[in-house]
Amino acid sequence: MSFLNWIIPENYSFNSFLLLERFQIALMMKSGGWRNDNTEWKRSMGIALAANPAVRWYLEKRCPEAVSIISELVNNAPPTTDTGQVRAAELYTLESVEDFTIYATPERMGDRCDFIRGWDKRHLFELADLRGKIVLDVGAGSGRLTFAAAEKAAWVYASEPVGTLREYMRDKIKADGIKNVRVLDGLLPDLPFPDNTFDIVMSGHVVGDNWEPELAELTRVCKSGGWLLDCPGDSERNMKPSPELTNRGWEEIYYVGSFGKDVYNHRKHISKVSM
Ligand SMILES: C[S@@+](CC[C@H](N)C(=O)[O-])C[C@H]1O[C@@H](n2cnc3c(N)ncnc32)[C@H](O)[C@@H]1O
Repeated sequence: MSFLNWIIPENYSFNSFLLLERFQIALMMKSGGWRNDNTEWKRSMGIALAANPAVRWYLEKRCPEAVSIISELVNNAPPTTDTGQVRAAELYTLESVEDFTIYATPERMGDRCDFIRGWDKRHLFELADLRGKIVLDVGAGSGRLTFAAAEKAAWVYASEPVGTLREYMRDKIKADGIKNVRVLDGLLPDLPFPDNTFDIVMSGHVVGDNWEPELAELTRVCKSGGWLLDCPGDSERNMKPSPELTNRGWEEIYYVGSFGKDVYNHRKHISKVSM
């Protein structure tokens, strides 16, 4: 079982990495995913890239800042032509970044990802009155929060930096005849929206790599009198409270999720009126 249990690695080709965006490649090459064992990650990625030159070419062309890391990984990898060893290395890497790998198959996210599968949208509706509002969902993913909010809001803008996920949401909008959702690119901390645009700016599992600039950006695009919401959905693991948010004036709302585990939502009322 993988760390998050979001993917069955055997179901994925190493070519899934051909769908990665530049920011994902940079992150993946820097961190090696969620595993603590960086040595095995480096070895596996080196073997897998040496055996898949088209994937290596794509990653280097798409993310020039990763070229030197990639060269180092490939040059240091033990040479092998053993197909079993290569596939084992591919599986290890696919599983190490399972949160990226699953974006190759957005249609599987609803069943595989606990934060979607176990979530009840009433937890969003309890956080703010969405009726008639202009809402932004930052890092919208496959649209868990977006499509829930669209049931009440006037307009929902789903900003999402991964192309496969944007296309998935656009296909759903078309298939379901949804009229009040628009999907756009957008990567924190540089969102493509003017200041003071939205009544509600929401996200789930997005903020946290770089708190200060990310929260400042959410605040920038939110109107005075509006709300910032963080609504991560239910998890198969206990979540922890977030002092990073409460210390910055966010309210913390606790509930026991559908898996019997602790869940924390957060919200902050934004006032930009200077005294
Ligand atoms: C685990 S998914 C959660 C998707 C959705 N927010 C939800 O809760 O259902 C994390 C999402 O954040 C997006 N993301 C990651 N880093 C981001 C950033 N710096 N700015 C905006 N979105 C980001 C990913 O592309 C992905 O869609």
